[in-house]
Amino acid sequence: MSNHLNLFDKYDTPVPRYTSYPPVPYWKNNLSRDLWSLLLEKSMQKEDVTWSLYLHLPFCESLCTFCACNNVITKDHSKEDKYIQAIHKEWELYLQKVPILKERKIRQIHLGGGSPTFFNAANLTKLLDPILTNLNIDFSQFEGAVEVDPRRCTFEQLKVLRDLGFNRISLGVQDFDIEVQKNVNRIQPFEVVQNCVLMARELGYKSINFDLIYGLPGQTSDSIKETAKKTMELKPDRIALYSLAVVPWMRPAQNRFQRMEIKKGSEKRALFDAARDIFSGAGYIPLGIDHFALPSDSIADSSNNESMHRNFMGYTEYATDVLLGLGVSAISESLFGFQQNKKTLDEYYKDVLEYSVIPVSRGHLFTDEDLEIKSYILNLMTQYWTPLRWEIMDVNLFADMVQEGLVQVNKDKLIITEQGKPFTRHICNKIDKYAMNQVEPKRFSSGV
Ligand SMILES: C[S@@+](CC[C@H](N)C(=O)[O-])C[C@H]1O[C@@H](n2cnc3c(N)ncnc32)[C@H](O)[C@@H]1O
Ligand code: SF4
Repeated sequence: MSNHLNLFDKYDTPVPRYTSYPPVPYWKNNLSRDLWSLLLEKSMQKEDVTWSLYLHLPFCESLCTFCACNNVITKDHSKEDKYIQAIHKEWELYLQKVPILKERKIRQIHLGGGSPTFFNAANLTKLLDPILTNLNIDFSQFEGAVEVDPRRCTFEQLKVLRDLGFNRISLGVQDFDIEVQKNVNRIQPFEVVQNCVLMARELGYKSINFDLIYGLPGQTSDSIKETAKKTMELKPDRIALYSLAVVPWMRPAQNRFQRMEIKKGSEKRALFDAARDIFSGAGYIPLGIDHFALPSDSIADSSNNESMHRNFMGYTEYATDVLLGLGVSAISESLFGFQQNKKTLDEYYKDVLEYSVIPVSRGHLFTDEDLEIKSYILNLMTQYWTPLRWEIMDVNLFADMVQEGLVQVNKDKLIITEQGKPFTRHICNKIDKYAMNQVEPKRFSSGV
């Protein structure tokens, strides 16, 4: 066991989270605005294409100091109107360039942020109505998900979303301990979360997810066990237990963590293990690197039959060929490449509202090798093994990991052992061609 714990100290090093391959910092930026719409059009022409829509709603009323999301902090709710106008315009621009978007059956809509519930109930309807009426939705196969900040969530908001067809919510819980909450500027009593859960159940949402984070300042093994036990009282269908991404060069508010107790390496991992044991004891099934689900939740089936998928939104039940992201900083994926929208509100508004153009900031056109490695990394992140061609890999890079019992290397397979599962991000990193060939190190959060 102590040897195992030492590995968490050894591998407490920066690696991508592999919600995409190549990871965003390695993108080649070789994709113009025109090429992007062409690639999207070409992807959507595929006869049996499956696609999802992501809307990024960036506003939050206050800053949680751990936050690494693309957010805009404001208490000014008059900003909602201009943002709705911009999203509608962006959607129109896409419909002009790629009219087939209206026809192809959509599998999933995800509202993320920021905090989608910053928008009041009337504005959520105003935002979504014109988009939904231009989509081909089969509600028997449709997943509508929304990220909800329990501190700003009313029955009316959840009701309008439910009436529009949304059926899954994800609550930002993070931690129930009041001292930890104070440390991260996010006071959120248990009752507030409980109330959201009760409202969502009453309205018939079919799946409720909790986001929790391990490694937050002030968290101890005892405090995270309490958080896990309180989580069990509310029995969400799914739980995401994220590793705190410490990225102060991107998120300066995290600099204050230097003055607080932040656990690293094996001590940080012990926090994950303490919560995991409680979830497993209550019957939850571990999925991927950091998720848990009740056996009754449909994502548990997708994990069993190896159809679970991972994209910019994290783990999802099924793969879609295309993910179209609308809104500031939103990321899109087509069969041929990635694209990210302009990252600041000013730039985004300028492109969409003033110049009437799709607000492309950067992108990446896949090479054949990218597509091959992308599928291997997806396999490793979702099912812990992958067939692969060693001819394009350097098997010697795995020598240590084989000796440490983290992976098994076969003639045409790479298998992650039970012991190796917590190091999946590092294992993927060994087949990441961009990481291997980088001249200048890129900065990522720690893989523990
Ligand atoms: C857009 S927020 C969820 C919705 C809403 N804004 C809220 O916080 O309730 C997405 C999730 O990302 C996770 N997150 C944000 N910053 C993180 C970080 N630095 N490390 C790990 N997870 C983080 C949090 O668990 C958060 O719930
Ligand atoms: S964690 Fe959620 S509520 Fe807090 S700042 Fe980030 S996006 Fe906003």
